Amino acid sequence: MELDEVETIAVLGAGNMGHGIAEVAALAGYDVNLRDIKEEFVQNGYEQIEWSLGKLAEKEQISEDEADAALDRVTPLVDLGEAVSNVDVIIEAVPEKMEIKKDVYADVEANAPDHAIFATNTSSLSITELSEVTDRPEQFCGMHFFNPPVRMQLVEVIAGDHSSDETLDLIEDLAEAMGKTPVRVRKDSPGFIVNRILVPLMNEAAWMVYEDEATIAEVDSTAKFDIGLPMGLFELTDQVGLDVGQHVLEYMHDVLGEAYRPCPLSQEKLENEHLGKKTGKGFYDYEDGGADVPT
Ligand code: 3HC
Repeated sequence: MELDEVETIAVLGAGNMGHGIAEVAALAGYDVNLRDIKEEFVQNGYEQIEWSLGKLAEKEQISEDEADAALDRVTPLVDLGEAVSNVDVIIEAVPEKMEIKKDVYADVEANAPDHAIFATNTSSLSITELSEVTDRPEQFCGMHFFNPPVRMQLVEVIAGDHSSDETLDLIEDLAEAMGKTPVRVRKDSPGFIVNRILVPLMNEAAWMVYEDEATIAEVDSTAKFDIGLPMGLFELTDQVGLDVGQHVLEYMHDVLGEAYRPCPLSQEKLENEHLGKKTGKGFYDYEDGGADVPT
């Protein structure tokens, strides 16, 4: 398939990444089926897209008409068969658990047209292993966006062992058509390039605070003002989601070993569903509209 044959895209999962990817695709002129397992999840994702498009229009990065047209291109759905049966590309952004993703791919394979390309937004899991659940592993690759997708430029396009060059070229072209800069990752290893480096950095920051070697405020101000990161490492963990970071680390720990052991600092927050910005609380408190700085 060539890029100009791509008209409709399904995005599976309407969470932080899913709704952001759907927004980026709709802004690029694609019709998008946004699907999640519950009406409330998909509705929440749709409302987040509406909010984000409103912000972009308010800041005159797009016009009001462009915002309305992009929202019109998004169809929120719960039925998986309906979401994937008539699409050209399926971008999957369901929770970062191998078993959940494998179950989804078995259902998607049964419902998707033969020509459709499968692209997973997994943050760390094996592309090869996921592709082998389907009957089309050569039409399968990674397409890893960064949070928040509408603001972040990079997309990692990851080759699984079976991904064909045609599939990788098409997904790179699609990323460019969405206004992004694709980087090809030729080796399917845990965390690919960015998360292999970034997630252990966030974990190391947590160990420093856990071992009482620094405070959250000290680590974050150092990261921003001395290391030059756009956000502090705890702010970034809140942005990405503590649950997402934890899933990535657990997988890297299982596959790569002890150096990637998750810090227990996040455990209590995870148990209390303080997952970061998306739940209003993480390492920082966002509930009154701004971040309270912890010590
Ligand atoms: N849509 C529209 N507007 C948005 C938005 C969205 N999705 N998200 C935030 N905004 C708005 C805010 O509401 C705020 O609006 P306001 O000015 O009216 O209050 C405004 O954007 C903030 O934007 P600014 O440009 O003023 O702020 P920054 O200069 O701080 O930029 C940032 C924000 C681009 C997020 C920047 O802080 C950044 O680059 N942070 C690092 C993010 C990063 O590294 N992400 C990757 C994480 S790793 C990952 O995702 C991989 C995964 O697999 C784990």
